[in-house]
Amino acid sequence: MKNLLNSVILFFSFSTFNAYSFEAAVAMPDSYSAQVAKDILQDGGNAIDAAIAAQFVLAVTLPEAGNIGGGGFMTIFHEGKGDFLDYREVAPLAASRDMYLDKQNNVIPHLSTFSILSSGVPGTVDGMWQAHKKYGSKTWQELLAPAVKLASDGFIVHPVLATGAQATIRRFKEQNINVNFADYFGAVEAGKVFKQPELAATLKRISDNGRDGFYRGKTAHIIAKYMKHNDGIITEKDLANYQSKWRQPIQETWRGYDIITAPPPSSGGIAIIQWLAMFDLLKQEKPIEHNSQRYMHFLAEIGKRVFADRAEYLGDPDFYDVPTSKLLAKPYLQKRIANITENRISATETIKPGLHESRDTTHFSIIDKWGNAISNTTTINYTFGSGVVVEGAGFILNDEMDDFSAKPGAANIFGAVGGTANEIQPNKRMLSSMAPTILLNEGKVEMVTGSPGGTTIITSVYQSILNVIEFNMTAEQAVNAPRFHHQLLPENEIWHYDGINADVLSALQAMGYKVVPDTFGDVQLIINRGNELTAASEKNVYSRGVSLVFD
Ligand code: GLY
Repeated sequence: MKNLLNSVILFFSFSTFNAYSFEAAVAMPDSYSAQVAKDILQDGGNAIDAAIAAQFVLAVTLPEAGNIGGGGFMTIFHEGKGDFLDYREVAPLAASRDMYLDKQNNVIPHLSTFSILSSGVPGTVDGMWQAHKKYGSKTWQELLAPAVKLASDGFIVHPVLATGAQATIRRFKEQNINVNFADYFGAVEAGKVFKQPELAATLKRISDNGRDGFYRGKTAHIIAKYMKHNDGIITEKDLANYQSKWRQPIQETWRGYDIITAPPPSSGGIAIIQWLAMFDLLKQEKPIEHNSQRYMHFLAEIGKRVFADRAEYLGDPDFYDVPTSKLLAKPYLQKRIANITENRISATETIKPGLHESRDTTHFSIIDKWGNAISNTTTINYTFGSGVVVEGAGFILNDEMDDFSAKPGAANIFGAVGGTANEIQPNKRMLSSMAPTILLNEGKVEMVTGSPGGTTIITSVYQSILNVIEFNMTAEQAVNAPRFHHQLLPENEIWHYDGINADVLSALQAMGYKVVPDTFGDVQLIINRGNELTAASEKNVYSRGVSLVFD
């Protein structure tokens, strides 16, 4: 299961004095983004510069999830202050609530996932542009240069990319999904150089013209024309109108740590805080052994309640009044755990909302020598997004529209359900689980964590936090300890990594759980313990992460 070749931990140092005597560290989903982020940091750039350069590199070297055709969230800790950039996609102006339903009100298979209609208006380029305007220290062109070069000169294909692309092409064929993914990615071969000339030209226009190199002019024209010829709905107006947003991050204290994490339109931040706080309320003084039956049952019970709230109350805050503070209030959470017992599973249908998403996406974590930190999760939704490549512009479009609720109660590709709060409306952001998170201890960064994996993102993030803070694991242990996930539906299913004790799994089955082997995503984690940085990239069959600590 473990691909040891994929993870390299290197150490090198900055001699420059800095306020926190910090080294720098990156935990990245591939070797190219790791190297570029390191180069930018060593060349005097800050964490935001490194993040922007890495984001564009990943659009070239990690096409499963890295992107310019998608969106994401960036949690920032800069000069002692938390900030949050929402560059999530929005529904096109011509989108409508029932656009994925047939005349009988049934969800039409594959329309919201693998079709020309699956895509929200991409937010990544505007997001990076806004991040650069507010925090960047290097020139935009310097930050784009590595991506342009890798697209134009090519890069060596990792076996995980080759296997994933071939499996995706087979899946599209088997399921009669008519997208052009194979025309662009049919030639990827492990160990061989892969060039993307159309993408290189698009990245060059973005390098030359900034935001307008994507949302106006030639690129916008190519996208809109491609849409029109293929019965898509994204127009030049949609592109010109797109705006990423600076938002107040969720900032909550837990066990004395300040957790800075994603606010709505992500469900991730709220869910993580709920999960951690309810765990503490349940645990009380009695220690709970890691991955024991009691631990897994309690966290599954909490998961039922977290996901019931998610389905009812979470959506784009610009369209729906998300009751964030009520959902995080201690008395509310105390009430939520009141009927959890040690030996019995709560019946799924009794868990109502309380106030009355291989899955893909990718994540990276960065700390610079000044103690600034970036936790960035970015996505085109499912692996290789919609499978639709914009002809002439060479990038894959997202299938993020599937993160909306196509119909109340109908599960999306990650099994998540929703209702009015997350129904489709023009220009609205679809609900996300992405949860880029930073933990502070007395004003300094203690942990930077995040993960891909659809709805399991939430679990990967909160369990990485528990692994470090509750169970005192090293970074390497924390990302590779087997995780498990429950999300209300499917009923009483616990998805789990290999490596959980067989007796524990049998005991959970005896209680009535169905246990299903799975792998969620690759956590990218940096820990600062006593001003000593360690970083780790999870090793699993889908990952090729690289972590570097600069000493
Ligand atoms: N597309 C996965 C998420 O945003 O949660």
